[in-house]
Amino acid sequence: MDKIVIQGGKPLRGEMTISGAKNAALPILAATLLSPEPQHLKNVPKLVDITTIKRLLEKIGASITEEDNGCTIQIKNIENNEAPYSWVKTMRATILVLGPLLARCGEAHVSLPGGCAIGARPIQLHLTGLKKMGAEITIEHGMIHAKAAKLKGASIYLEAPTVTGTENLMMAATLAEGTTILENAACEPEITDLAHYLNACGAQIIGAGSDRIIIHGVPSLSGTTYEVMPDRIEAGTFMLAASITLGDLHLKNLRPSDMVSIIEKLREIGSKIVEEKDSLRVIGKEIHAVDLKTLPYPGLPTDMQAQFMALMSVADGSSVITETIFESRFNHCAELRRMGAQIKVEGNHAMIKGVPYLSGAPVMASDLRASASLILAGLVAQDETEVLRIYHLDRGYEAIEQKLSQVGASIQRLKGTA
Ligand code: EPZ
Repeated sequence: MDKIVIQGGKPLRGEMTISGAKNAALPILAATLLSPEPQHLKNVPKLVDITTIKRLLEKIGASITEEDNGCTIQIKNIENNEAPYSWVKTMRATILVLGPLLARCGEAHVSLPGGCAIGARPIQLHLTGLKKMGAEITIEHGMIHAKAAKLKGASIYLEAPTVTGTENLMMAATLAEGTTILENAACEPEITDLAHYLNACGAQIIGAGSDRIIIHGVPSLSGTTYEVMPDRIEAGTFMLAASITLGDLHLKNLRPSDMVSIIEKLREIGSKIVEEKDSLRVIGKEIHAVDLKTLPYPGLPTDMQAQFMALMSVADGSSVITETIFESRFNHCAELRRMGAQIKVEGNHAMIKGVPYLSGAPVMASDLRASASLILAGLVAQDETEVLRIYHLDRGYEAIEQKLSQVGASIQRLKGTA
């Protein structure tokens, strides 16, 4: 397995270009199942999770042509309507093929995703919504078997603002007979991006980005050309890299309007942030201890919690981080403590007492954003940090060591070591 080695203490300075959003590209790729026409997708990030869903789509019947900044994908016919456990266990987001497959061909067999390092990750709201649209759903031997000759529009209240649940149901509803209303829908920008893509294919979706989404079913969807939105979590991670190293980074190809909670929290911490139309300049100054609480969009994203914890570990006081979305998303705490961080976890609260410096150490990644947190800690720690099990990192960050070394980080990937 590869590992990443960082010599800490270097302020990062220069320009970085943000890649396309993993959590927008995944549902958009799943949504290509809804149409037999060619789809030309731009700004698709080169990530392990993206490769995983492309390979699954090819097993289902897709032909995919890679291009320099994206791909052309066409699913003329559904040749296989199954997503077995061997696929789903490597990436939970394969559940996103359930709704589109059911809508396109009336039958889908998708493995129930298990939990993961950050929580139980249930999907009952996906299934309840599809049943309300007329699907017959049974679960046997860990497989979801779904059938529906033709999905019907329905009014669906989502008890939790589930992101992929909202996306699955929105995709299924595009080809249903009649109108579907999703109440208490999730509002993340990636949902809006998916709706924009679907509407470009001829869907009739109104209200994406709000907690009430209306989808008028249409008989079929066409092809289109679409550019995936920038990744607000990658951008947020690199903003914190500037803050934690007291550097000065110019981040390009992003949307500040997607990142208000991150920008305001960083300003409260003491970083200087200059907003431009599709870029941000972040200058790290003081690192004040502030309390943070993760919330559904537009609140502070849970996918930024681990990264902020690395920053608070070297803040000038004590802070409390509250995680309200997932029940066990503090796996990075133990590894940060190995680097000298003073963190105490009680339930869904983490109490952090800032220390003057972290010390480099071998640490182990446990999930995607915990890996990012350890990279940030390594950038500021004294001496050398080794981050192991970085296959977690490669799922969500494109060429992170190249991007960071181009702005002055002493970081390298050692292939095939421990
Ligand atoms: C999406 O996961 C993201 N993944 C996650 O990003 C992100 O952390 C999460 O949304 C929250 O923002 C993708 O978009 C591929 P949820 P998702 O369903 O949709 C509860 C990353 O790092 N819930 O929004 O699987 C659930 O328990 C990943 O890129 C139910 O109770 O998350 C949780 O508390 C990690 N029942 C809350 O909703 C359900 O049926 C949010 O989960 C579904 C969800």
